[in-house]
Amino acid sequence: MPEPVNIWAVIPAAGIGSRMEAEIPKQYLKIQHKCILEHTLERFCHYSRFSGVVVAVAEDDPYWPTLSVSSHEKLMQCTGGEQRCHSVLNGLRCLEAVAAKDDWVLVHDAARPCVRIEDIDILIDSVVSAGAVGGLLAVPVRDTMKRGDNANIVTTTVDRTGLWHALTPQMFRLSELMEAIDAALQQELFVTDEAQAMEQRKMLPLLVEGHPDNIKITHPRDLSLAELFLALQEKIP
Ligand code: C5P
Repeated sequence: MPEPVNIWAVIPAAGIGSRMEAEIPKQYLKIQHKCILEHTLERFCHYSRFSGVVVAVAEDDPYWPTLSVSSHEKLMQCTGGEQRCHSVLNGLRCLEAVAAKDDWVLVHDAARPCVRIEDIDILIDSVVSAGAVGGLLAVPVRDTMKRGDNANIVTTTVDRTGLWHALTPQMFRLSELMEAIDAALQQELFVTDEAQAMEQRKMLPLLVEGHPDNIKITHPRDLSLAELFLALQEKIP
C-alpha cells in the first residue's frame, strides 16, 4: 500500500471541560501519575508515522509549560480558540508552515487518552486504501435509540440502522479540511467535529470501526473508567 508522503496530528486541548466540575481544565486531571493530556500526547509523539504534532492550548495556560512532554521535538504549539473548531483551525494554520497541502492531518481530542495505536493504524490504512476523501474512527450504535422532549419524555424510537458514534482521530487532507472549517465558520456553523465540516461540502468521509474504549473524558465518573482502560491496555501483548 502506498504510504502518504506526510501525516500530521492536531490535538485540540484548549477547552475547560465544564462538565467535569473540576477546579482545573480536565486535560490536566491526573490518571496514574500523568495528566490526561500527557497520556494522549505521549501516544501521538511516539507514533512513528506522524511527522509532527500540533497541540492547541488556551492562551496563558499556566499548566502546559510545566509538562515535560511540552518540549518534545515532534511537538508544535498554537493558541486555541473560543470553540473546538476554532482551536482545530488554529492548529491547521500552524501546520501550513511545515506541511504540504495534500498531506494528511489526524485531529484528535486531548480528552481521549485511551485511543489505541492499532486503531490509528487501521484508520490511516483504511482511508488510504479506499481512496476516500478522509475518515474517522467510529463505533456502531448498539442500544435502542430514543428521542426525548425537554421533560425527558420519550417522543419516538429512532431507527439505529446506520447510526454510529463519531470518535477521533478524524483524518483529512490539510487544505481541504482548512477550507471546509473556514467555510463552516463563515456560515456561523460551529462544527463539533471535522467530518461535519467536510459533509457540508459534500465530501463524505469513511467510517472506520474502532474500539469503544476510546472514550472522551467528559464527566467525573469517566476518569476511573479511563484509568481502568489504560491499565487493561498495558496488559495487551
Ligand atoms: O469539550 P469537549 O470535550 O467536547 O472538547 C473536545 C476537545 O476539544 C477537548 O480536548 C478540548 O480541550 C478541546 N477544545 C479546544 N478548544 C475549545 C474547546 C474544546 O481545544 N475552545
